Parts: sequence; structure tokens; C-alpha cells
Amino acid sequence: MTKLLVVATGNPGKLREMQAYLANSGWELTLKPEELEIEETGDTFAANACLKASQVAQVTGNWAIADDSGLQVDALNGAPGVYSARYGQTDSDRIARLLQELGSEVNRQAQFVCAIAIASPNGAIVLQSEGICHGEILHAPRGDGGFGYDPIFYVPDKQLTFAQMTPDLKKSISHRGKALTALLPQMATLNQ
Ligand code: IMP
Repeated sequence: MTKLLVVATGNPGKLREMQAYLANSGWELTLKPEELEIEETGDTFAANACLKASQVAQVTGNWAIADDSGLQVDALNGAPGVYSARYGQTDSDRIARLLQELGSEVNRQAQFVCAIAIASPNGAIVLQSEGICHGEILHAPRGDGGFGYDPIFYVPDKQLTFAQMTPDLKKSISHRGKALTALLPQMATLNQ
């Protein structure tokens, strides 16, 4: 039986990405109502994902899934972290600010983190997962694919930035891919 799963995002790109992972999972994904805005007041990715999933489930009366993600830079004590989306007005502003704050720092270690939460129709959180992808911050952007901080996030194993990877390669190693893949077996049991 197909069950409806409301994705707690207004971003059709995120919906498409989740649909790609959850194809044939028995869940039918749909966007949250546009007028429903949820403030991300948590101080961890997991707290924000739970907050969004729980509120969307309660308001819509359906199962809901939410993710919260961002970039943590070691030499900046984990910044921009949960503020990744609010670090500047545009992707290039955010990249410029990060590169400026990091300056000539030698330690360029960083990780993308993605937390995902699923809530049942009464708002209770029933599943959670987290995915991490380690990399390094370059001194200048490289590549023009992807979005956000992708052009400055270099994965040494692949010798490519996220912005230079094919969507399939990024999907297979990214924080979001890992978090979603970890949830799939348990999601199948929820849907029985
Ligand atoms: P949110 O998860 O939609 O709240 O926003 C996370 C923010 O972190 C995005 O606006 C991006 O700036 C950044 N971010 C998260 N995942 C990625 C990624 O895969 N590539 C580049 N930037 C990302």
C-alpha cells in the first residue's frame, strides 16, 4: 500500500532528490503546504530536522520527513553549521564570507552533515539518521555543478569538488545520500 509522506520543504529540488532515493519504497512524496513556514530554532541539525518533521506531520495529519543540513569547518569551530543557509544572501556571498573568514588557515578540514527525521501523523518522531561527508575547503571555487558551498568543498578520495562531480557520484557519497540510505530499511517496515 502506498502511504503519503509530506516532505517538510518548500523546495521542489529537495523533493525531487528525495524522490530519487525513495523510488519504489512504497511512499508517495509530496511538498508541504506553501503557507506553512517553520522557523529553524534548534541549535543542532537533528533538532531542526525533528522540529520540522513534527510540525508538518501535526499540521497536515500525515507522515512527514524533514532534513536539515550544513557545512562545519573545523578551524571555524564548526561554523557556519546550522547557520549555513543564513551565512549570506546568495551562494557566492556565502562562499566569499567563508573563504574570507578562513583566510590562509592551514587546517582546511570540513564536513557536510545532514540530519533526517520522520514523524508519524501525531507528530511523534519515529526515525532519525545522520550522514557525514568529510572534505577540505579549497582557497578558490572549482567546478560549476551543484549548489551552495559545492564549488569549495573538495573530496580528496575522488580528487574533485562536489561541484565537479556528476549528480550520481555526489549522491553516492554525500551526507544527504548517506542519511537517506541509512533510513531506507526502517522506512520499509514503517510502511507495512
Ligand atoms: P537547509 O538544510 O535547507 O536548511 O540548508 C542547508 C544549507 O547548507 C544550504 O542552503 C547550503 O548552503 C548548505 N548545504 C547543505 N547541503 C549542501 C550540499 O550538498 N552542497 C552545498 N551546500 C550545502
